[in-house]
Amino acid sequence: MKKSYFRPEIDTMAGYVPGEQPVMENLIKLNTNENPYPPSPKVEEALRSFPAGMLRRYPDPMANHLRDAVAGRFGVARDNVIIGNGSDDLLTMIFRAFTAPDKPMAMLYPSYSLYAELAAMQGASVVRLALQKKSFALPENLLEQAKACNLLMLTRPNAPTGTLFPRAAVEEICAKFDGVVVIDEAYADFAPDNCMEFAKKFSNVIVMRTFSKSFSLAGIRLGYAVADADLIAGLMKLKDSYNVDRLAQLVGEAAFADVETLQTHCRMVCAGRAFLTENLQKMNFYVAESAANFLFAAPPDGDGKRCFEELRRRAVIVRYFPGEMTGNFVRITVGNDAENQKLIQFLHEIYD
Ligand SMILES: Cc1ncc(COP(=O)(O)O)c(C=O)c1O
Repeated sequence: MKKSYFRPEIDTMAGYVPGEQPVMENLIKLNTNENPYPPSPKVEEALRSFPAGMLRRYPDPMANHLRDAVAGRFGVARDNVIIGNGSDDLLTMIFRAFTAPDKPMAMLYPSYSLYAELAAMQGASVVRLALQKKSFALPENLLEQAKACNLLMLTRPNAPTGTLFPRAAVEEICAKFDGVVVIDEAYADFAPDNCMEFAKKFSNVIVMRTFSKSFSLAGIRLGYAVADADLIAGLMKLKDSYNVDRLAQLVGEAAFADVETLQTHCRMVCAGRAFLTENLQKMNFYVAESAANFLFAAPPDGDGKRCFEELRRRAVIVRYFPGEMTGNFVRITVGNDAENQKLIQFLHEIYD
C-alpha cells in the first residue's frame, strides 16, 4: 500500500463538501443560502473609488476600522471583536483553540456539518446532540450530554432547519456549560431576535456572524465574532497574520454602515420566506418553522432526494442532506420573487 504522509486524523476524515456552485444558463440557485439581492450600493461606490495601487501594501492585520464599527454597533470595545476571512475562518481558529484529542466538542444534529470536520482535523471527538424529531427543538438533556466537552456549538437560527431555539434556553446553557459556547448567528439578521447580549454577559460565550448572507457578500469572505477580551486575544494568536484582505475590509466597512439596505433586503427575504412557506404548506409539504433565509421542507411523499433531483432537472438547485433526520427534506434558500414563483410552479408540476 502506498505510504501516507498525513496525520492519521487527516487520512480518516471525509472533508467538508461545500454546496455546489454550478455555472448553468437560467439556473435558479437556491442551495447555499446566498442573498438574492445585491449588496449595498455603497459597496459598489467603495470598489469603484479604490486605488488599485494600494494592493501592493499589506492590509491592516487586525482590520481595526471594521472592528471599531462592529464594536460601536454592539456597544463593546475593539478588544471584544475579531474579524475573519468568512466566518469559516473564525471557526477554524475556534476549533484550533478549543478542541484536541482530550478536548471533545458538542454540536447539534442536524447542524452545520463543517464543525465535525474541523473537530476531526484536531483529532477531537464529537458529541452529536440530536434535535427532537420534526420540531427540531433542543434535546431535553443537552447539558448532560455535552458535559465532558470543552466546546459547544449552538447555531441560532440553526442550519439546515431554520429553528430559532428559545433565547432563555440558550442563556441557561451559556450560564451552566463548563466550557466555551459558540453561538453561530450566521442567519440572525433574518430572525426576530438574537443572542449578542450573551457575548457581553458571559465570559465563555462567543457570538459569530457573517457578511455572506444578510449583507449579500458571500463572494468577499468576511465574518466577525464578539466575545470576552481574553477569548478574543487567544483567537488572535491563531489567525493568519493578514487574514482579511484590503478589499474585504473596505467592502465590509461600506456594507456594515448601510443599515437601511440591510434591513430592506432582510424584510424582502422574510416576505419571500412567508410566501414560500404558505405555498409549500398548501401543497402538503411539512415546513419546519424558519427564522433564517431558507426553509427546511419535506415533500408530501417524504422523499427529499427525489425532490432535489426533479428540481435539478428543471435547473433549480436546492440542497439535499442524506441521513436519518434529514433525508426526508430539502433545504431551499429563499430567492427573489420570480425565483420563488418559478420554484412553486415547478413543485406543482412535480407533485400535483
Ligand atoms: C451556520 C453557518 N455558519 C457559518 C457559515 C459560513 O459562512 P461564511 O460564508 O461566513 O464562511 C455558514 C455558511 O453557510 C453557515 O450556514
